[in-house]
This record gives sequence, structure tokens and C-alpha cells, in this order.
Amino acid sequence: MGDQRTVLLGVTGGIAAYKSAELVRALQADGHAVQAVLTKAATKFITPLTIASLTGNKVITDLFDDSSPDETLHSAIAHIDVAQRADVLLVAPATADMLAKFALGLADDFLSTAHLAFRGPLVLAPAMNTNMWEHPATRENLAALRTRGARIVEPGVGELACGTVGSGRLAELDDIVDAVRSALNSEGDLRDECVLVTAGPTREALDPVRYISNRSSGRMGFALANEAARRGARVILVAGPVTQPTPPGCERIDVESAAEMHRAVLQHLGEASFAVMAAAVADYRPEQQAASKLKKRDGLPKLSLEETPDILQSAAAHKGGRVLVGFAAETDDLEANGRRKLQSKGCDLMVANPVGGATGFDSELNQGMLLAADGSTQRLAPMSKAEMAGRILDEAIRLRKRMAA
Ligand code: CTP
Repeated sequence: MGDQRTVLLGVTGGIAAYKSAELVRALQADGHAVQAVLTKAATKFITPLTIASLTGNKVITDLFDDSSPDETLHSAIAHIDVAQRADVLLVAPATADMLAKFALGLADDFLSTAHLAFRGPLVLAPAMNTNMWEHPATRENLAALRTRGARIVEPGVGELACGTVGSGRLAELDDIVDAVRSALNSEGDLRDECVLVTAGPTREALDPVRYISNRSSGRMGFALANEAARRGARVILVAGPVTQPTPPGCERIDVESAAEMHRAVLQHLGEASFAVMAAAVADYRPEQQAASKLKKRDGLPKLSLEETPDILQSAAAHKGGRVLVGFAAETDDLEANGRRKLQSKGCDLMVANPVGGATGFDSELNQGMLLAADGSTQRLAPMSKAEMAGRILDEAIRLRKRMAA
């Protein structure tokens, strides 16, 4: 097969390692070649011979073999070469320990070294005891890896080897194979494109120390910028005041108010083939901004508000051939309100999110609906914002192809 791609499969030392034999089969059935790397601990759960027999490739177990230094050096170089030529790095099962190593950038065994040397997409399927999965250290490591664009195939809930029932069970093999396929399919599909993303809240000043704002953390917009850059786009990220680190390769323009964001968007819209307006722009601002701090002794201030410019609508007025994506945060009637907003704002795709609950504002997860102007509707179950970013970009790319056809 000319377009066969190679999955570098890292297997780490958890009981779910026994499932890696089936996983190899499932990846092969999906058309991929598999090169496996087993950590030392993984070899206690499944033998390299089992995996080598299935993959047809020698299994990499570690960098050094004391018996024959020359042979070891030769094979280590060959192995690194294999690792670098792979198309995707999948770690399944990924232990809490390996997630921690990846998050920190340690390189003290073959797999963690390959992770640092590898430039392609990373898919992680964690499996561990529930308490380890829920531990803040693991949560923080996962958040760091997600921010860097790793795809996490969330573990399921079920009976665990330790006898308890909870989350931490390796995801279904089909879901892991799907994540690998989508990571491979999306590689480079935004090359030669420019994506303008707005993210975060805006702040509307009352006086030099006080402002009106909202709960947006910027995570969704930053996940979109990160994913677009990973897919090869030039990314212009117009960010309100947030604490998120700039995703690798993005050109970031920091703004504070809706008026500043409006200016930055109109200035750069002409360069963009996609504009994704994920910012939670304040709808109102104080009509007057006091030049000096309002003093209590002067009595209650009379606040009168005015509307901020609608950035999405202004972008729609200059839409041209670009794909315009808006967001609708709704407490009620998600689909109906989302569709109405899609039309009134004049965009190609509306991402409708329910407000409240465990997803959305200031959360790591998001859910909702993708409502496209061509009538297509997709429901998205709760998922990481990185994954949601991938789904939104997939849909935006589909619409662009349709517009070009
Ligand atoms: N938006 C914008 N400029 C504004 C307000 C909103 O560009 N001044 C954009 C947001 O970035 C988002 C979309 O419009 O992509 C929808 O935001 P939302 O607050 O849900 O819409 P509103 O028009 O403010 O509607 P609502 O009456 O529900 O507040």
C-alpha cells in the first residue's frame, strides 16, 4: 500500500498493556503499519515476542543493551530513525508516570526520548487506577499535554484491575483507532491557510482600576489557535486578557477592550482565509470612562452603558470567500437560538454551547452543537477543548471546500 502510515505505538506498564496485542490488530485493520516500543515495565505485562509477531517488526524495548555496545549503538540510531519517521505517536496504555514524563519533557528511556524527538501528532490513551487518574498531579500533566495539542482518548468507567469501579479503564480500542485516524487525516490540512482566532474575554473600563468583564478563560480560543497551527496554518491570535501561554507558532496580539479587539480583527481579517470568533466579547461598556479613580465620597456612580461594536457582524460585512465561525453561549433552546444567531450574524458555522454545568466557561471541557449554514447539524458530547477545536476546524474545512466547489 503506497499510502500506508506508520503508528509508533508506545506501550507502558499497566495491566491494560495486555490489550495492546488487540490494539495492534485493530490499527493494522485500519490500514496502518505498527512499530512498537515497550517500556521495561510493559514487558512485565506483555512480551515483546507477542507484539513483534503481530507487528512483524522488532520491538524496541530500551536504548541500551550491555551485551554488545556496537550492536546497541547501531540499533539505537536505527530505532530513533524509525521513531522519527513514524506518522503518529500513540501511547496506549499511558500510565500516570509516562504522562508525567511527557509533561515535564524528561527523556530517560526510549519512549520518553522518542516523544521529545518526534514532531508529529501525539495520541494518548491513559489507563490507571481511579485515584491516580483523579489526582491533581495527573490532571495538571494532562492539561499541559492538551495545551500542547496532544489528543487524549479519555479512559472509560468500569471495573478496574484493583477491584474498584471508577474511571481509569483504557478507552475502547475503536475509539483509540478513531483518534489515530483523525490525527493522521488532519495533519497539514491547513497548510497555506491563515486562521484568525479571537479568544478570551474583553474588559470594559469604568475607571483606571475597575472594569466590566466575564468568566471566559480563553481556553477554547487558544485550543483552536493551537490546533490550527498544528495543522500547518499561519495563525493570528487576537487575545483578550487571559493567562494562557501562547500556542507554539501563533502570532499573538493582546488586546483589552472590545474596541481594541474590533480594530485588531478588522486590521488582520484581509489576511485570513478562516476567521474563528471564539472571544466572549462584552456586549456593553460604560458610556463614560472616568480618567481618575471613582471615589466613594462622591457617592454612587451613575452607570450608563452603551453597546460595544459587534465584531462578528463587522467581520461578516467583509466576509468575502473566507469561512466565518461564531460562537453562541446559550442558557436555553440551544439549537433554535444557535440557528437564529447563525443567520443574524451572517456566518458560515455557529458553535452553540450550553452555559452552566461542568462544561463551557472556564472549564477544561466543552460540548454543544455545530450548526452550519448549509443546514448540517452535529451534536458534540462533552470532550476536551483540544478535541472540540479539531472538530470545529474539520467542519470549517468542509465548508471551505464546499464554497470553493
Ligand atoms: N460577538 C462579537 N462582538 C460582540 C458580541 C459578540 O463579535 N460585541 C461574537 C462572539 O465572539 C461570538 C458571537 O458574537 O462569536 C456570539 O456571541 P454572543 O454573546 O452569544 O451573542 P450576542 O450577539 O451577544 O447575543 P446575546 O443576545 O445572546 O448576548
